[in-house]
Amino acid sequence: MTTTYRIAPSILSADFARLGEEVKSVIDAGADWIHFDVMDNHYVPNLTFGPMICQALKPHAKTASGVAVPIDVHLMISPVDALAVSFAEAGADLISFHPDASAHVHRSIQAIKSKGIKAGLVFNPAKSLEVLEWTIDEIDLILIMSVNPGFGGQSFIDSALRKVELARQWIERSGRDIRLEVDGGIKADNIRRVADAGADTFVAGSAIFGKPDYKTVIDQMRVALG
Ligand code: DX5
Ligand code: ZN
Repeated sequence: MTTTYRIAPSILSADFARLGEEVKSVIDAGADWIHFDVMDNHYVPNLTFGPMICQALKPHAKTASGVAVPIDVHLMISPVDALAVSFAEAGADLISFHPDASAHVHRSIQAIKSKGIKAGLVFNPAKSLEVLEWTIDEIDLILIMSVNPGFGGQSFIDSALRKVELARQWIERSGRDIRLEVDGGIKADNIRRVADAGADTFVAGSAIFGKPDYKTVIDQMRVALG
C-alpha cells in the first residue's frame, strides 16, 4: 500500500508581520496542510494567536488554482472546548488537543466533531498513548510531539520514534483512516526516519520558514520521503 505523505509547515516560525503572504508562499512551495500552533501561556509557556487570525488566514489557505488547503489547528491550551468550537467556526479543518489539557477528553472530541470537522489527540514526549483505548474510534488524527510544546527550533526527541511505531499499531488495529502526524524538530535529514517509524504527516516550522526558498526545502523533504 502506498502512503500519501503530507507536509504541514507550522506558521509558528513564519514572519508574523506577513502571515497571509507567508501562507500563500508556503502553499505555492508545495505545502499540503497549514499547521496552526495555538498557545495560551497557561498550558505552555508561550502565547500565539486566536480564532480571528485563523479566520483572517482562511481565504489565503488555497492553491493558485483555488483548491482549499486544510488548516491543521494544534491547540496547546487549557481548557479546550470553547476555543475549539471558535476555531471550528473560524475555518479550522482539523483540531487536535492535548488530552491532559481537557477535564473530559471524550466530550472535547465530541465538541470538535459536532462542528463537522476532524478531531485529533496530541501526545507530549512523556505522555503514553493509553487514552487511545477509549478514543481511537472517535478521532481522525494522532499527533506525536517530538519536542516539548511551546517553541519552534528545538531538537528532535528520538524516543518519539518508538511512540510513532506504537501509534501506527493502534491505527492498524482500529482499521480506521487516521492520520499519524509528528511535530517538532523535523528536517529534510530526519524525515525519512520518522516516516519509517510509521508517520504519514510531518509538521515543520523552522526547517522551512526563515529559509531563503521554501520550495527547495519542501522538495528535499519529498525526495527524502521517496
Ligand atoms: C511546538 C509546535 C511545533 C513547532 C515545530 O510547540 O507545536 O509545531 O512549531 O517547529 P519546528 O519544526 O521548528 O520544531
Ligand atoms: Zn504544533
